[in-house]
Amino acid sequence: MAFNLPCACVIIGCIFASLVKTSNISDVYPPLWKESPGQFSDYKIENGKYIINFWSYRDRLGTYKILLNKTAKYFAKFSLENEQNILWGLPVHHGWQYHTGRLADPTQSTDCGHKSGDHLCISVDSWWADLNYYLSAMPFLAAVDSGIMGISPDNVTFLPPSKDQMNFCYNVSNCHLSFPEAMKKWNEFYQVFFLSHSSSFDDLLESLWAAHVSSLDVARKNFQNRLKYYSKQEADFARSWALFVDYLAPPRFPTTLIRTYEFQKELPRRMLVSGDKAPFISDFSGFQNTVLFALNLLHKVHKYTGLLIVENIGKIT
Ligand SMILES: *[C@@H]1O[C@H](CO)[C@@H](O)[C@H](O)[C@H]1NC(C)=O
Ligand SMILES: *[C@@H]1O[C@H](CO)[C@@H](O)[C@H](O)[C@H]1NC(C)=O
Ligand SMILES: *[C@@H]1O[C@H](CO)[C@@H](O)[C@H](O)[C@H]1NC(C)=O
Ligand SMILES: *[C@@H]1O[C@H](CO)[C@@H](O)[C@H](O)[C@H]1NC(C)=O
Repeated sequence: MAFNLPCACVIIGCIFASLVKTSNISDVYPPLWKESPGQFSDYKIENGKYIINFWSYRDRLGTYKILLNKTAKYFAKFSLENEQNILWGLPVHHGWQYHTGRLADPTQSTDCGHKSGDHLCISVDSWWADLNYYLSAMPFLAAVDSGIMGISPDNVTFLPPSKDQMNFCYNVSNCHLSFPEAMKKWNEFYQVFFLSHSSSFDDLLESLWAAHVSSLDVARKNFQNRLKYYSKQEADFARSWALFVDYLAPPRFPTTLIRTYEFQKELPRRMLVSGDKAPFISDFSGFQNTVLFALNLLHKVHKYTGLLIVENIGKIT
């Protein structure tokens, strides 16, 4: 226990030490940000409902874009141009998943998500994509439900994936039924916007992380079986990453645009393959190697000690 938190802090510290002022803010946006839908009318309408395909990178990214747009006014007091909107963490991380090939079909049985094939396709077999579904569909629908999106909760529906439909949810009422706890936490997050005009940045961050962790808790359980499609190195990294997120929550890592961008620049820039051994991966930077090594170490220590200290800390604070 004495060891885990410092270890996580080293990783975070290491990343912040590498902060170099980003010279061009347009570099920090996720790939295809400009080209993706930015308003509801950019989506198809059928029977009075907007139809969104979360298995297309462009559609999924578009939901984040609308969310960022509609929540901008609540963050205006913290910065210009919405930079301090803490919801940026979600699309920026999703962009990293996309450009590192992590949304592609890991079984290689289809060309879904592969550069040479249907590169905008998001594979239901991707562990990363499935976890992200809970961190895109749920925050989006809870926002619709809370009224900040300006449409009726019954007016939006998502297309199902090609398999495992029971593991996902498709509209506001259906998501509340299937994932009550996580949806409740996301709803509470949006309530913080309205509850008081004086809600601080820290209140928002705390509430965001509570919702984030709640989504991830269900997602991690539901998609364990996807990890078998990956190299041992990638599966280990995925587990380490999912664990590390628990360590980012208690200190309330500020998931603003530039911070998240700088942070994930240090994450593996491609899928890990067998033979990749941090900190000796030749096409990774020194920082990327160090971060990967530290993440894996954190996971090992955690496994040995078997202590879920973070959850307890989260409850105390
Ligand atoms: C920033 O990046 C955009 C798009 O990549 C480019 O059009 C623009 O010229 C860049 N600006 C600077 C100052 O480098
Ligand atoms: C949304 O729902 C209302 C009724 O609740 C309906 O009148 C409207 O046409 C729907 N569709 C769109 C695209 O707004
Ligand atoms: C939100 O989107 C609308 C329509 O695309 C645009 O006019 C507006 O400037 C955007 N607001 C922010 C804060 O990005
Ligand atoms: C929501 O989705 C469920 C399951 O697909 C469906 O049975 C229900 O009619 C949908 N509700 C609305 C309001 O669209």
